[in-house]
Amino acid sequence: MVKTAFNIGEVEFKNRVLVASGTFGYGDELKELVDVSKLGGIITKSLSWKPRDGNPPKRIVETASGMLNSIGLANIGVEDFVEEKLPYLEKLDTVVIANIAASSVEEYCDVLALLDEKEGIDAFEINVSCPNVKEGGLSFGTDCNATAEITSKLRALTKKPLIIKLTPNVTHISEFAKAVEEAGADAVSVINTVIGMAVDIKTRKPKLSTVTGGLSGPAIKPIALAKVYEVAQTVDIPILGIGGIASTEDAVEFLLVGASAVQIGTMNYVDPTGSIKIADGLRRHAESNSLKDVGDLVGAIDANVEFSVLQSWL
Ligand code: DHB
Repeated sequence: MVKTAFNIGEVEFKNRVLVASGTFGYGDELKELVDVSKLGGIITKSLSWKPRDGNPPKRIVETASGMLNSIGLANIGVEDFVEEKLPYLEKLDTVVIANIAASSVEEYCDVLALLDEKEGIDAFEINVSCPNVKEGGLSFGTDCNATAEITSKLRALTKKPLIIKLTPNVTHISEFAKAVEEAGADAVSVINTVIGMAVDIKTRKPKLSTVTGGLSGPAIKPIALAKVYEVAQTVDIPILGIGGIASTEDAVEFLLVGASAVQIGTMNYVDPTGSIKIADGLRRHAESNSLKDVGDLVGAIDANVEFSVLQSWL
């Protein structure tokens, strides 16, 4: 029997495949299609204090091997979440992670404090890197001090695992990873979406109402792998790898470069059961490589090359 489980702090995940925030609603929407008990965990859509309508359409555009989105943190707000969604999530036989997004440090703290008291939330993922809102979002996520400040304020409010989701839209993501590790984060999610744009050549207008948006899907996988690898050279806390994972082989790549687990995002729109297939695929990959634990793949890359641009500045 291959071991598939892993821990962040005291929380045990039954396998190393989670569904990413914003791609799986609040968990209940896909219950007819996906046996969520086979997932390592579910990460909710970002929650803010008040409900948000998000950005006007058009806010999703398909691109080559990817998707551009500018949702603008549309969500039902934390109070309705607790009333309408938490009772269902509480009963699930998988780890539930609440993702929080806010426009001020106080709002992050208020949302987390409210959720921390409730049964049914096992951990928090903090979105400091939404590319699609004016206040908060990327203005926090691209400021290393602000990211560290949010982390330490939230750390003081909860004993549950605190995971910070980092943006790739900075020069050295590992500096941010180090800063949040020092501020008390238990893990980092690497990466959030990459800023991108698409243009309609007939109308000569941007395809998204907000002009730019967040690019996700297989198009960003090589970027994400490089960022996970960079962060893995710098921190000791677990990394949740995310960015264009669409197959077992993709997930193995992320583990090899140093991710302890993976999140499946855009793939959920193509095949909502893909994450379960990948979880099983990882177990079978470990088995066929005579590994006792899927975790034996973590950081097992053989990167002793003579020349690496990354190593030259790390
Ligand atoms: C949103 C979009 C993203 O690409 C992201 O990473 C987080 C949030 C949003 O607009 O809601």
